[in-house]
Amino acid sequence: MLRFFPEKNKTFQEEQEYTFDSELPVPNHIAIIMDGNGRWAQNRYLPRVAGHKEGMETVKTITKHASNLGVKVLTLYAFSTENWKRPEEEVDFLMQLPVDFFDTFVPELMKKNVRINVMGEYDTLPASTQDAINRAVEATSNNTGLILNFALNYGSRSEMVHAVKNIASDITENNIEIEQITDEMIGDYLMTSFLPKEIRDPEILIRTSGEERISNFLLWQIAYSELLFTKELWPDYNETSLENSIAIFQHRNRRFGGLKKEENK
Ligand code: FPP
Repeated sequence: MLRFFPEKNKTFQEEQEYTFDSELPVPNHIAIIMDGNGRWAQNRYLPRVAGHKEGMETVKTITKHASNLGVKVLTLYAFSTENWKRPEEEVDFLMQLPVDFFDTFVPELMKKNVRINVMGEYDTLPASTQDAINRAVEATSNNTGLILNFALNYGSRSEMVHAVKNIASDITENNIEIEQITDEMIGDYLMTSFLPKEIRDPEILIRTSGEERISNFLLWQIAYSELLFTKELWPDYNETSLENSIAIFQHRNRRFGGLKKEENK
């Protein structure tokens, strides 16, 4: 008879086990699903949007700390293509957030040499959101430090559909041949293609709030990422939380389908 012995959740266990070691490598690319804003607000009898406002403050804290730690890319899931289903008032608030964020935070990002990128279905965003993005991207375009990459109106399946269509049209127009299609080339058609190849894929994907789902985020790019689920709600996630997440990564045994050197003997 087959028996299933449920293990205590690995990440939640690991969270108490490791401490961050600044001597060990820090991931180059961290992706985060920032979840739990609504619950954070509801726990305080506040409207859900108060959670998003606080979540925006967490974005600032985590961006600065990631930059201090030497992280090269921070990709944040700020609004998914499915989030349009939320009440109009909440969607409007979420669309206003980038405007407030960029208007108030760009001077600090400049001091930290942070470059902003936004990936997603840009054309359907309100004009005021597009304007704020354009200004922030333009103002930080020559910065050479951390790349703060917002996934805004982003969905991974839709990203792949676009990639497939573009590859098909490049074949039809004789720009490429079918034989040239490789997984690396598919990466060139995705929204992360603006990043140098060696840091396109996140080494860790963190999701806050205790939910253990990927929710249509970077499905291609996380093929070998370490997945970390923490129970903290996004507005509660802080510098120590980030270090704890990195500490777990530092102690994971990444094999990419092979064996570690010592296991090869
Ligand atoms: C998920 O929490 C969070 C979002 C859909 C929005 C995330 C946005 C921010 C943190 C601010 C982003 C800032 C900028 C500058 C764009 P939820 O509402 O699903 O929480 P719940 O699961 O507790 O309801």
